[in-house]
Amino acid sequence: MNSLSDELLSGRSGSDPQQFAAPARVNLIGEHTDYTGGLVMPMAIPFTTVAQLQDAVDGRYTFSSELFATTRSMTPDDRSSRVGDWSDYPVGVLRELQQHGLQIPPFELRLSGDVPLGAGLSSSASVEVVTAIALLSHAQVTLSAAVIAKLCQSAENNYVGSPCGIMDQFVVTAATADHALLLNTRDLTFELLPMNKGDLADCRIVVANSGVRHSIAGGDYGLRRREVEVGQAKLRDRFSELRDLGDATLEQLAACEHELSRESFRRCRHIITENRRVREARQAMLAGDPARLGLIMTTAHASERDDFECSIEEIDFLVDTAVGLNGCYGARLTGGGFGGCTVNLVNGTDVDEFIGALTAAYRAGFSLELDTYVCAAVNGALARNAARLYGDSQETR
Ligand code: GLA
Repeated sequence: MNSLSDELLSGRSGSDPQQFAAPARVNLIGEHTDYTGGLVMPMAIPFTTVAQLQDAVDGRYTFSSELFATTRSMTPDDRSSRVGDWSDYPVGVLRELQQHGLQIPPFELRLSGDVPLGAGLSSSASVEVVTAIALLSHAQVTLSAAVIAKLCQSAENNYVGSPCGIMDQFVVTAATADHALLLNTRDLTFELLPMNKGDLADCRIVVANSGVRHSIAGGDYGLRRREVEVGQAKLRDRFSELRDLGDATLEQLAACEHELSRESFRRCRHIITENRRVREARQAMLAGDPARLGLIMTTAHASERDDFECSIEEIDFLVDTAVGLNGCYGARLTGGGFGGCTVNLVNGTDVDEFIGALTAAYRAGFSLELDTYVCAAVNGALARNAARLYGDSQETR
């Protein structure tokens, strides 16, 4: 993966616009575990953010977007802070690269794409990663997937001001088609898990968008994160061998219960049981057992709803309805929560009927239209851009 920029560079052709692409992601399981050293299991999905980059003759850095009317332009020594719109995401990435000492020649960067905004499918990470890859190519610098992901996370944490973990940026960068990516967020080691073992080969991942907008920059995500971190600090005080909640057991949590607020206790219980569920989900994936995997997903939803309290009525309705439908093995809220999407594991031949029934039920229950996406696992930004620049005639997914 370290050879990304070499590959990218070999594809450059004078001042013609260069095009780069990054996917979105859905998380199969492992929610809110990525800021306390836990496990996550997302996959990249076929929505795309595209960045077109070309040399600028005016000596400036200019950012524009097909989706938003505003253009943002600055000199290379500009260090002004965020402005509170879409441009903060790519500019934050530029700032991080500059802080790492990169000299980036003047450019015009234009973003476009089809990732649903505010749906919990990582539109932000998709913008950050595609920007990072485009600017690294432009500066003729090579960085690893882990460094790119961390840099994009820092951009979001420090410049945009949104306290996300590392999952989204990592999977958007490093995913491989037809696989879920099991990431240990403590050390960023990962394992690719095939999506087509055993009876899983006959299943589809169906993402259902509640239409209720979610934002990590909103206060709920940050509040949950603080509740978890307070609990983690208490556990570490008590058990000095603990590196983070990724190591903690329910017994250790129980030993600290009287020192924790009810909220912190329950948030940590979700994290500890969720890490265990990710391990079990890995076994189910490797065994090609959709019934087992689906049950774990649905159990994870109950934990998000009851212990982590990051679900909402519309999402609970979608999950409860889904698991009662033909061919659905399991369903849960995916992403940061407080709106957004559910992820459903559905038998392939039942998908059309499943979508029809879920859509009708949602309309009847909430007078809302449901958007659904049947998602294959696609390549992350590194693989996508490398393949294109190799001149590979196969279309990358
Ligand atoms: C958002 C954040 C991630 C992660 C999830 C919850 O998507 O960006 O870092 O914390 O919420 O699992």
